[in-house]
Amino acid sequence: MTIPVIIDCDPGIDDVMALTLAFAHPELDIKLITTEPGNQTQAKTIHNALAFTSYMKKDIEIARGLDNPFFRQLEIADEVHGDNGLGDVHFPEPTIQLSNRTAIEAMKETLLSSDEQIVLIATGPLTNVGALLLAHPEIKSKIKYISYMGGAAVGGNMTPTTEFNVYVDPHAADIVFRSGIPIIMSGLDVTHKAYVTKEELNRIEAIGSDFAQKVVQMLRFYVHAAKQTAFHEDGFENHIRLHDLCAVSYVLTPELFEGDDCYVAVELEGKLTTGTTVVDYAQRTGLPHNVKVLHTVHREKFVEQFLSAVQTMSRQIG
Ligand code: RIB
Ligand code: CA
Repeated sequence: MTIPVIIDCDPGIDDVMALTLAFAHPELDIKLITTEPGNQTQAKTIHNALAFTSYMKKDIEIARGLDNPFFRQLEIADEVHGDNGLGDVHFPEPTIQLSNRTAIEAMKETLLSSDEQIVLIATGPLTNVGALLLAHPEIKSKIKYISYMGGAAVGGNMTPTTEFNVYVDPHAADIVFRSGIPIIMSGLDVTHKAYVTKEELNRIEAIGSDFAQKVVQMLRFYVHAAKQTAFHEDGFENHIRLHDLCAVSYVLTPELFEGDDCYVAVELEGKLTTGTTVVDYAQRTGLPHNVKVLHTVHREKFVEQFLSAVQTMSRQIG
């Protein structure tokens, strides 16, 4: 049984790890990949999506999303993901051409033409998804759920209370969280536990393929950068957090995760807190649950799943 998915991303080092897992599992029927700026500018995230998907020898439509957040000035994470967005690791020039459909057109048409509901995997700012919902609300019933890397019940990696993806475009995130579409939120609460260690990096390196080397180079850049920046998170040195991987892993193996059904809303007016995902764990608002907030992952199995994906893709691309 295959699961039809659309992947919306801002590649981005951990976005590429998420794509690796998705590409390695044929049970995910990837209908479309859409990109937006976030970790890097739109031009670079598009290039990275095209180049990586080409390198992985996957023939999947890739469509350009919106160039900027709804209202906020775009802030990118080049300190963490590097000048090219992939930790200065370069892939061969893409052989896939960018779709002549925009992301919004492609998502709308893919969803409406599907005879089954599609899972939307989102690993960047929610600009595209928010715009899709505003422009074409009729597609809501065609989305089974959104598996989203973003937000946090506690803490943040951009401000004390905001996670990067929601921080970049909180207004789009607000549209999505109020949409009524079920959301599985892989926020920092779970992604901080979804890490590989330096020893596990060495296991990836031992695979010995060109792709494995690129994965290790990207993740070693990611660690180095995180130590130097405002993104620095305690213990990052040996906890290389594969945030976006959670959003794909959950679709493949939800049994690796635990979470709570909660009411979650996005703060839009706080001087210090705009972009915060306010998670009502204790049901204080009495408002209906709209999000499953993940808080636990079986890390060892999660890591084995990723290492196996790197091995699989190394064999496939030769
Ligand atoms: O906060 C982590 C998120 O921000 C990940 O999606 C990472 O790729 C960056 O976009
Ligand atoms: Ca991302």
